[in-house]
Amino acid sequence: MKSSTKLSEKIILKNLDNKDFFKIMILDTTSSTNTEAKKIAENDGSEGTLIIADTQTSGKGRMGRSFSSPQGCGIYMSLILKPDFAAERALLITTLAATAVSKAIENLTDKKTGIKWVNDIYIDNKKVCGILTEAVSKAHSNELKFVVLGIGINVTKPQKGFPEELKDIACSIFKHGKTPDHFRNKLIAEVLNEFMKEYPNLLNCSFLDYYREKSILTGKRVNILKCNEICGEATVLDIDDNFGLTVRYDDGKIETINSGEVSVKKKDENE
Ligand code: BTN
Repeated sequence: MKSSTKLSEKIILKNLDNKDFFKIMILDTTSSTNTEAKKIAENDGSEGTLIIADTQTSGKGRMGRSFSSPQGCGIYMSLILKPDFAAERALLITTLAATAVSKAIENLTDKKTGIKWVNDIYIDNKKVCGILTEAVSKAHSNELKFVVLGIGINVTKPQKGFPEELKDIACSIFKHGKTPDHFRNKLIAEVLNEFMKEYPNLLNCSFLDYYREKSILTGKRVNILKCNEICGEATVLDIDDNFGLTVRYDDGKIETINSGEVSVKKKDENE
């Protein structure tokens, strides 16, 4: 691999605004950076510990899915956070991370991104990034012990292309071999920079307007899924003030759904 495409702590730090907050660990390979970060957090790993891997052998997605993580083609990273709020608010970390990834890609490239509620970033109607937030609460309490924020971004197309099942639904920021120098390192730093602009005042939700503007589901027809089973069809009306998705079912009933309970599928999506 050319040195300009390798992961480098030095270059990430050079581009990072808040150098003191982060403790960066780069791995060639791991099963999942989220699993690695959880182990570290359970052993008193400090807030700001960031695990980045060049490839993952069992990258994890939401709802028990896997996350394809071919070597050198993406950003696979997990950040340990110890926010001082109740477990129900952990969704704010996911939505802030989605905002940060969207802004970072747009700051560094000419691509336009959209956010698919609640945690996916899209370019040209295909998924380019997924986010998996895993929260662990203190024993017998509603307070958070720690949160692991996992972010996976497809930066370049794998040489052999995406696996068959992802071909029609996934994309990368660049086509294979067309990536600017040190792009992965710069994008990692930019995502963290955007994240840290809001993280200290997360409960203010100042990024809600941006998140709403970028929502690709608003106005669209969706299937509402519970446990992966379609349980209704609806039109998306808006994102509410708590990042819930407000939908109108065909019988006129309006409901705001929360990410823990259901997921949605755009009607034109094969996912
Ligand atoms: C999803 O799309 O459902 C979420 C995907 C999250 C993938 C990232 S890659 C880094 C971190 N480690 C994992 O095992 N998963 C997350």
